[in-house]
Amino acid sequence: MCGIIAYIGRKDCKDILINGLKRLEYRGYDSAGIGILESKNTKDAKGIKIKVAKEAGKIKMLEDMIGRSEMKGCTGIGHTRWATHGEPTKVNAHPHLDCKQEIAVVHNGIIENYAEIKEELIEKGHKFVSDTDTEVLPHLLEEYDEGDLQIAMSRLLARIKGSGAIVAISTKYPDQIIAGRIASPLIVGISKDANFFASDMPAVLEHTRDFLVINDYETVRITREKVQIFNISGEIVKRDPFRASWNIESAEKGGYEDFMLKEIFEQPYGAKETMRGRLGNGKLDFSELDLSDKQINQLKKIEIIACGTSYHAAVIGKQVIEKWAGIPVEVDFSSEYRYRDPVVMDNCLFIAITQSGETIDTLAAIREAKSRGAKIIAITNVVGSSVARESDYVLYTHAGPEIGVCATKTFTAQIMIMYMLGLFLAKKRKSLEKARFSEIASELEIMPNKISDILDNADKLKKIADQTYRQTCFLFLGRIFGFPVALEGALKLKEISYIHAEGYPAGEMKHGPIALTDKKTVVVSIIPKDFIYEKMLSNITEVKARKAIIFSLASKKDKKIEELSDHIFYIPETIEELYGILAIIPIQLYSYYIAKNLDRNVDQPRNLAKSVTVE
Ligand code: F6R
Repeated sequence: MCGIIAYIGRKDCKDILINGLKRLEYRGYDSAGIGILESKNTKDAKGIKIKVAKEAGKIKMLEDMIGRSEMKGCTGIGHTRWATHGEPTKVNAHPHLDCKQEIAVVHNGIIENYAEIKEELIEKGHKFVSDTDTEVLPHLLEEYDEGDLQIAMSRLLARIKGSGAIVAISTKYPDQIIAGRIASPLIVGISKDANFFASDMPAVLEHTRDFLVINDYETVRITREKVQIFNISGEIVKRDPFRASWNIESAEKGGYEDFMLKEIFEQPYGAKETMRGRLGNGKLDFSELDLSDKQINQLKKIEIIACGTSYHAAVIGKQVIEKWAGIPVEVDFSSEYRYRDPVVMDNCLFIAITQSGETIDTLAAIREAKSRGAKIIAITNVVGSSVARESDYVLYTHAGPEIGVCATKTFTAQIMIMYMLGLFLAKKRKSLEKARFSEIASELEIMPNKISDILDNADKLKKIADQTYRQTCFLFLGRIFGFPVALEGALKLKEISYIHAEGYPAGEMKHGPIALTDKKTVVVSIIPKDFIYEKMLSNITEVKARKAIIFSLASKKDKKIEELSDHIFYIPETIEELYGILAIIPIQLYSYYIAKNLDRNVDQPRNLAKSVTVE
């Protein structure tokens, strides 16, 4: 939540900052601002001023506003906000300044002890203008600066409680930008002529693909030519940069109307890339896990934690691991796990799923589990993310950057990992017949083609959306392997269309939710021809009798489903455990077209942000 960019180099940075912020807008979009060190002669510190421009609303508003003003300088910081403390107004937008207007700060995170610090600073005579927690930071730096801003930042990190990626510029030190980090994402981008700070790689991919990670409680000084990382004791830390496999094209819309649509259509590629080097020609390789056969055979339990869409991938993981590998799996919301005094038993493997690798609750749950002796496998899409760094093993999904706030291609890539992991554990534990193993492996290998077949029929889903988008209640129903799809379907629809939607196991309808059904209700039934098909049919008959409109996602034509359904979309046939990945694709498209009919901003739905770095 909140996006940060900073640039120091030889070019005028206004446009670099604005373009970077646009690429970070998925992280927060209620207000934005930039601060630039301006001077005609940058060698003369006295002539240097911080020029700040901020605006409530989207970055476009800021850009339009700046277009009317002169802003020149080669050192600057920028911020796009997702409000926590204080409303999304111009005055609360970042950067925030100290009393003398010599220091400007942007911040992503929450300062939990800001009230106490603010009181202390007010007593010392500092003046505040905003309602934010962030504003204490430039004033603290003003207090702590005794000739070295990096040391001041280090003292600041020791003083605050909570989380923060904090970046500061000062008129006193025009040839450097200083950052500090506790728990919120921040990376350094390195190039020949300039250096950057950014919350995420897409912000600076057009300038560099070389990055350095920053760890908690480290401070960093960047100049045009140099990057210096300092640990908590003030010692310089040596760290090798890594080269991102993502490129700028992968972070562009590429001719699509929205990132969400582009990312839905990238799913065959994401699934294929996620399999690459792991599954091919019937062979499965998960050597990256580095678990011995003995360890796998002794496993008594697996615990998976995640939030939101990633939680739904976890439920799919539970189902296939239990069915194929025979290991009991518990699935928890990270936000619940971290506070519920969990039992971590011996021979339990702990898996954290998070596309961003920065979700604060998932990070906290990992720390909780680690403190109780658990070994952690992270499944994430972002190389070098906090979760990746804090885990013992990392399984990367290779979906490419996901810019749309709502998860699509990262979800299907997560499901692919769960399927492969289930199969891998089953193989090691010899719990699946060879023939069955081969059948599932071959089916997984052709999954990208089956996903493409669905995408080729997107227009059919658009038609169904056009006919149903005015309905006021949507119930997504499935059983067993269709159940996590129902949960994810309801989440997709509600987050981008703002229509009330619920995902339910179809067998539970009679225990309450059926009271919701009437002619304004659409029931999206996930009803592939699997072992539970007949039961699903009965459940759908019950809601049909209450006048609901039935939209079925079926896999095989038959008379009964045709009679029962007002709309049908056929997904390709597959093994029953694998229907989940196919059933979610039409639902993503259906939700997308409903939201577009309602004129919603699908890439940046209201109140949401891509990575949830606050509790
Ligand atoms: C929904 C969505 C969110 C995320 C959730 C967890 O489309 O994107 O529900 O799934 O915020 O995020 P990660 O996976 O980054 O931990």
